[in-house]
Amino acid sequence: MTIIVTGGAGFIGSNFIFHMLEVYPEYRIVCLDKLTYAGNLSTLEKVKDNKNFRFVKADICDRQAVYKLFEEENPDIVVNFAAESHVDRSIETPEIFLQTNIIGTAVLMDACRKYGIKRYHQVSTDEVYGDLPLDRPDLFFTENTPLHTSSPYSSSKASADLLVLSYYRTFGLPVTISRCSNNYGPYHFPEKLIPLMVINALANKPLPVYGEGLNVRDWLYVEDHCRAIDLIIHNGRVGEVYNVGGHNEMSNIDIVKIICKTLGKPESLITYVSDRKGHDLRYAIDPEKIHKELGWLPETKFADGIQRTIKWYLENENWWKPIISGEYRNYYEKMYGKRE
Ligand code: NAD
Ligand code: TYD
Repeated sequence: MTIIVTGGAGFIGSNFIFHMLEVYPEYRIVCLDKLTYAGNLSTLEKVKDNKNFRFVKADICDRQAVYKLFEEENPDIVVNFAAESHVDRSIETPEIFLQTNIIGTAVLMDACRKYGIKRYHQVSTDEVYGDLPLDRPDLFFTENTPLHTSSPYSSSKASADLLVLSYYRTFGLPVTISRCSNNYGPYHFPEKLIPLMVINALANKPLPVYGEGLNVRDWLYVEDHCRAIDLIIHNGRVGEVYNVGGHNEMSNIDIVKIICKTLGKPESLITYVSDRKGHDLRYAIDPEKIHKELGWLPETKFADGIQRTIKWYLENENWWKPIISGEYRNYYEKMYGKRE
């Protein structure tokens, strides 16, 4: 079995590669990644010498490079994690999101059609459903919730989902889609809420909470997401969408307070800054379909997962220090330098 994992030098893709090489030591895993600001080869350090692993630096939008890789590897499965993934960046520069997230998905699926494939899996997000009100805790996203996006990021992901389903209907491409809630865990890029707050708190820097910090996200430990994708590519029904989430809703401010407490830092570091434009209020997944059909349940409780994650950042400065000292520093200055 050969699996091409795109975006495998990023947060979730790398964790998925570790999971697959461990659970299926006989599988060949080929990582295709452009190594944008969000992709780091250092993330893949521990698997780089595994004889069943290959890394290829390429852009999923580069048709020639993608086709060449398919000719070389003749993959059975493609799992597409490659994406521009940060909402705030999509508000600054939408176009690259359209390019990678939509056109890149089309190129990958064209390659699957041309060379044949057992499964194309699209890693999508709960953000395609838009948001839920804060005062209706009884509402959850199901697979039938209409797509109703808020940001250029979520719009590009929803567009890709529609394209994937159209390749199933029109060309009979054997596709599946997973729509997961917010992940957290090791190798999470430090522009996202949890690692940003951990790293800032360690340096006694302000913790920039958007608006009043009351927006709610449904957090899932990254390994649980990886297990869900593993189940879907092996046992999921072709043409189907599966929501993935662990019923773990938390407001941003509560998360930031947990981080302060764990690190022994004062809450006075918390700084309320101007809100994100179009900021989604609440995400909450109903994971009943994947539970009933595939037996998936989350294994890591948030209380354990967040402690494990914070410990990981404490023990892995070697990973994040070079990242925050480079180009990312310019981004941080631009986003937060004048944000009051
Ligand atoms: P990430 O930003 O950490 O990693 C993205 C990876 O894709 C990087 O390694 C980057 O170099 C690579 N990449 C970007 N553009 C590329 C291109 N044109 N060609 C090849 N590689 C390219 O993202 P992540 O958080 O790991 O998210 C992975 C996927 O999961 C995304 O599709 C995202 O929409 C989805 N998702 C993320 C979350 C979350 O909480 N992070 C939740 C649900 C779904
Ligand atoms: P983020 O990690 O960017 O994920 P997403 O927008 O995909 O859910 O943000 C999670 C939540 O944290 C979101 O409500 C925005 C908020 N947030 C802050 O309050 N401050 C920050 O500096 C960042 C990056 C996010």
